[in-house]
Amino acid sequence: MSLKLNLIAAVCENMGIGKNNDLPWRLKSEMAYFTRMTSESKNNKKNVVIMGRKTWDSIPPKYKPLNNRINFILSRSNVYLDGYKDCFAFKSLDEAIDKLNNKDYKKIYDNVWVIGGSLIYKASMANKYFYRLYLTEIKKQYDCDTYFPKLNGNLKEVKDDCVPEEVQEENGISFVYKIYENIDYKEE
Ligand SMILES: NC(=O)c1ccc[n+]([C@@H]2O[C@H](COP(=O)([O-])OP(=O)(O)OC[C@H]3O[C@@H](n4cnc5c(N)ncnc54)[C@H](OP(=O)(O)O)[C@@H]3O)[C@@H](O)[C@H]2O)c1
Repeated sequence: MSLKLNLIAAVCENMGIGKNNDLPWRLKSEMAYFTRMTSESKNNKKNVVIMGRKTWDSIPPKYKPLNNRINFILSRSNVYLDGYKDCFAFKSLDEAIDKLNNKDYKKIYDNVWVIGGSLIYKASMANKYFYRLYLTEIKKQYDCDTYFPKLNGNLKEVKDDCVPEEVQEENGISFVYKIYENIDYKEE
């Protein structure tokens, strides 16, 4: 089975994803969806979540590392991960992909989720292993300083039984869970 990079992100109407190294919104049910999607796995294996160093820094200490998942953190410098279980640092996305493609390592994880931020999403969407983008579209504008990269034309919308199709609502804010698949993805 070829590696599949699944991206998961929540964006507002102006494609913003963050502000002051935090999320611009508080949507508990959307956060629960993120946790469910990135945690659910088969055969007692954990999933891998790949994130940039700033996203790692933005996770409150009590939720770090993201539990029941193997945390991969990308940084060009040295990230201090002592004392954190199931956490590994990589100097590039390619280095992380090499690890994921290692024959023995492949036996220990199930799905791979890229969880941001901006440049990590961009590099992942440009990678041949980019499979799907799970995008929560929030129907509101927020003031943001970090944005989701431009989507290109190689995506088609698909369905997934695990993902509700109806419009969601929390505290008067509407959002919808969309899934886009990379039409250029090929099993090797
Ligand atoms: N709405 C969402 O779904 C969502 C998801 C994730 C994050 N966010 C938000 O987005 C913001 C954080 O995202 P961000 O885009 O600012 O930062 P980020 O992507 O999380 O982290 C950027 C850092 O990652 C490292 N990095 C980036 N590209 C790399 C590469 N190709 N190879 C190795 N290391 C690489 C560098 O770390 P070093 O500087 O250490 O070298 C860089 O400074 C926060 O506001 C967060 O709350 C939102």
